[in-house]
Amino acid sequence: MHLLLRQFLAKVAHKSVPCRKMGLNGMTPGKLASYWEKVFREHGIPEPEDSSQILTAHALGAKTMHTIGSHVARSPVPADKLVLVEKMAQERLKRVPVQYIIGEWDFLDMTLEMRPPVLIPRPETEELVGLVVADCEELRRSTQTSILEVGCGSGAVSLALLRRIPQVRVIAIDKSEAAVSLTWDNAERLGLQHRIHVLQHDILTDPIARLLDLGAISAVVSNPPYIYTEDMSQLEPEILRYEDHSALDGGLDGMDVMKGILRLAPLLLKDKGDVFLEGDPRHPEMVKKWLEDHPEGQLQLLHIVKDFCGKPRFIHLRKQSSVL
Ligand SMILES: C[S@@+](CC[C@H](N)C(=O)[O-])C[C@H]1O[C@@H](n2cnc3c(N)ncnc32)[C@H](O)[C@@H]1O
Repeated sequence: MHLLLRQFLAKVAHKSVPCRKMGLNGMTPGKLASYWEKVFREHGIPEPEDSSQILTAHALGAKTMHTIGSHVARSPVPADKLVLVEKMAQERLKRVPVQYIIGEWDFLDMTLEMRPPVLIPRPETEELVGLVVADCEELRRSTQTSILEVGCGSGAVSLALLRRIPQVRVIAIDKSEAAVSLTWDNAERLGLQHRIHVLQHDILTDPIARLLDLGAISAVVSNPPYIYTEDMSQLEPEILRYEDHSALDGGLDGMDVMKGILRLAPLLLKDKGDVFLEGDPRHPEMVKKWLEDHPEGQLQLLHIVKDFCGKPRFIHLRKQSSVL
């Protein structure tokens, strides 16, 4: 063969099958995941093992390496899946959260669609749902009740409550259009769209009349933005680069939105209605102090509940009856 032609063919071959992928050819899923785990580790990517396993499993149509099936686990990963894993791994190397790369994430018993920059629900928020279900007396008393969620994000909390409490309907509000649209899409995905009203509403600036029109509320639930502004720069690149800062930054004392909720909740709640808040471990004491300074609000602190790490994370308040 002519030398120039041979050089040309060698060049084309190199371009279409990069050396590294040639090395990955024939690898089983387990070997492939270990390969990417090593690359992630070398590049300082957090949770390298989980990241590589979730991406590999996702490319093979499963959630975990344990559920890919024994035949798939023993077979070489097909070439198109190798390319897909590589594409996702390159995203991970740019610190994109795994949840955004695969486009979904589990929250309690639900698989929710995830889209940047809407906040990815955190594990401790699953406990907030448990608290509402266990401790909201008004929900037990009434046959038809409404819960208001302030800052619904992906819809995780609202939708989990709808699945657990059959007689409830939820009003889910968020100031972000992306969040409102994702909550709605997730509600439809789970067939819960008939029991949820999703509204773009800024609790700090939009008129309360829009919410009063929706009727009396049995409980207000919120995982508001609660990080102190000065702590924002300490967050991991995954969070800082890809998640909506206004879903996280709670202002100077982390309580901007929380204080808005404390002010509005008494106006929206039925007598003896509840407020459930997630916050920073410093917030329960600060809320106690805020209530002492604002007795007109009729809110009484009932419980401070610790999260699974033992940190005071959740605040349960109740509106006192207007006629004592
Ligand atoms: C910490 S995220 C919680 C999201 C979701 N509930 C969860 O737990 O995964 C806070 C949410 O509050 C929304 N938010 C921030 N400020 C708000 C405001 N003033 N009024 C309404 N929603 C607000 C953000 O857009 C964000 O979706």
